[in-house]
Amino acid sequence: MGFELEGVGLIHDNGFRALGRISLRADRGERVAVIGPSGAGKTSLIRLLGTALRPSEGRLEILDANPWRLSAGALRRLRTRVGTIHQSPPIPPRQRVVTAIHAGRLGRWPAWKGLLSLLYPVDIAGAQATLARFDLADRLFERCDRLSGGQLQRVGIARVLYQQPDLILADEPVSALDPALADAALGELVEESVRRGASLFASLHAVDLALKWFPRIVGLRDGEVAFDLPADRVTEAMLHELYAAEGDTLPVQARDAATCAARARSSCN
Ligand SMILES: Nc1ncnc2c1ncn2[C@@H]1O[C@H](COP(=O)(O)OP(=O)(O)OP(=O)(O)O)[C@@H](O)[C@H]1O
Ligand SMILES: [Mg+2]
Repeated sequence: MGFELEGVGLIHDNGFRALGRISLRADRGERVAVIGPSGAGKTSLIRLLGTALRPSEGRLEILDANPWRLSAGALRRLRTRVGTIHQSPPIPPRQRVVTAIHAGRLGRWPAWKGLLSLLYPVDIAGAQATLARFDLADRLFERCDRLSGGQLQRVGIARVLYQQPDLILADEPVSALDPALADAALGELVEESVRRGASLFASLHAVDLALKWFPRIVGLRDGEVAFDLPADRVTEAMLHELYAAEGDTLPVQARDAATCAARARSSCN
């Protein structure tokens, strides 16, 4: 299993309830997109799945283990099997791209190899091949603080692919990319998850991209699951209701949401 939540709620430190009692399950290798307005709880949910936050109630299992019942060592090993793509990648500014990519595998390498990789890149070809999938092969030795926001975001995606996790969590992974690059980068992410049978759970602001690349869509609103459906059963009316408070326009990459959704569906089937 990829993950399973049963009646999981999250109350933040200040007493704010970000998630109601959510029940959600994804099989190994399943691809699920979570969409919903700002503040719906998408990031909170991803942080729970990444074990960065502990649920306030309910049962949570990640890759067939309850992370909060594991020993410290077992929890560390579980975390090496989960890869998180953050909206703003937490990469030390002066770090070189190659080191940032290698950091994806640090938890899996023996200590000597990890230490060596900080002094001297140990797998240049592997890092370069991963970067090439995102048009960044020539940036291998560039400093991360000299990259644009969109380039840095793609380094964050490349790092997680290099990690080869069993569960990929992506929090708005393409928000800083233009439509063509966003589509291509999501395509790489999906291709990787399909090829290795890894589960992929991504929050996306662009509804058209979610419908195009993900067979299953979870609509989140006010910390509750509004719907959980195959992409081809998500209707315009459901989307408009989900985003009702944001006005009448749906957040999409392309201008015409209806055409996009239709095109997305035909390429899915
Ligand atoms: N650390 C925190 N402490 C208190 N409240 C928080 C914290 N993090 C998030 N929240 C609140 O929880 C709710 C859900 O936030 P979350 O970041 O999960 O939303 P989101 O769906 O990811 O939104 P966005 O689309 O803007 O990224 C919001 O009302 C937010 O203010
Ligand atoms: Mg968020």
